[in-house]
Amino acid sequence: MSRRPIIAGNWKMNMTRAQATELITALKPLVKDAAAEVVICVPYTDIDTAVALCKGSNIKVGAENVAWAEKGAFTGEISADMLLELGTEYVIIGHSERRQYFGETDASVNARLKTAIAKGLKPIVCVGETLEERESGKTDDVLKTQVTGAFDGISAADAADVVIAYEPVWAIGTGKTATSEQAEETIAGIRAEVKALYGAEVAEGMRIQYGGSMNPKNVKELMAQPDIDGGLIGGASLKAVDFSQVVNYDA
Ligand code: 13P
Repeated sequence: MSRRPIIAGNWKMNMTRAQATELITALKPLVKDAAAEVVICVPYTDIDTAVALCKGSNIKVGAENVAWAEKGAFTGEISADMLLELGTEYVIIGHSERRQYFGETDASVNARLKTAIAKGLKPIVCVGETLEERESGKTDDVLKTQVTGAFDGISAADAADVVIAYEPVWAIGTGKTATSEQAEETIAGIRAEVKALYGAEVAEGMRIQYGGSMNPKNVKELMAQPDIDGGLIGGASLKAVDFSQVVNYDA
């Protein structure tokens, strides 16, 4: 089964609206012929601007999180309806920075994922081990727990449309990329876990990205791996030329 590659930027807490306008304006012509699906996940305050600028282009807009609750007393949270009203299509859930700095757990990731699915947002669910976990041989167990926890109570039909991003925490923003063999091996393991949960058809169809210092120099080798279906790009997504070179890795 062929899986369409998906390259997504994660701007994190970067880009004012003025900066977002400049970046997207420069990016659009550079990626217009991309074979891969192109997504930019932007801060909430940039969504309106990004959706307006990306209209009629091949760039889709995503958010960086979504509340599990539909509405109510959840100060500082943003609901799925609020995101949908702005034209948001994708949403990142469970990024390691959310887990590390904001107390996200597999249970909160699961709750947010269920809401995103119910509302029709397209989720990109992040999983990944820390350096300590890798070095102590716990990578497989950690990823199994994260995948099982994220998908708890979610049907095979709903799971099939979810994108998973494998982001080893030690490779994020460090300039240290997993080798293509490490990334491939770990992502194949995640796919095996999806197969155990949902069967071969869902596992073969599911798109699994690599994330962690992916850039114009290493993208080609990573994307050549059979189980790597795309990338979730932090730092290199903040520069139009760099991000376009990642997106056009096969050009
Ligand atoms: P970097 O590409 O900056 O390492 O960030 C990766 C990431 O966390 C994307 O979500």
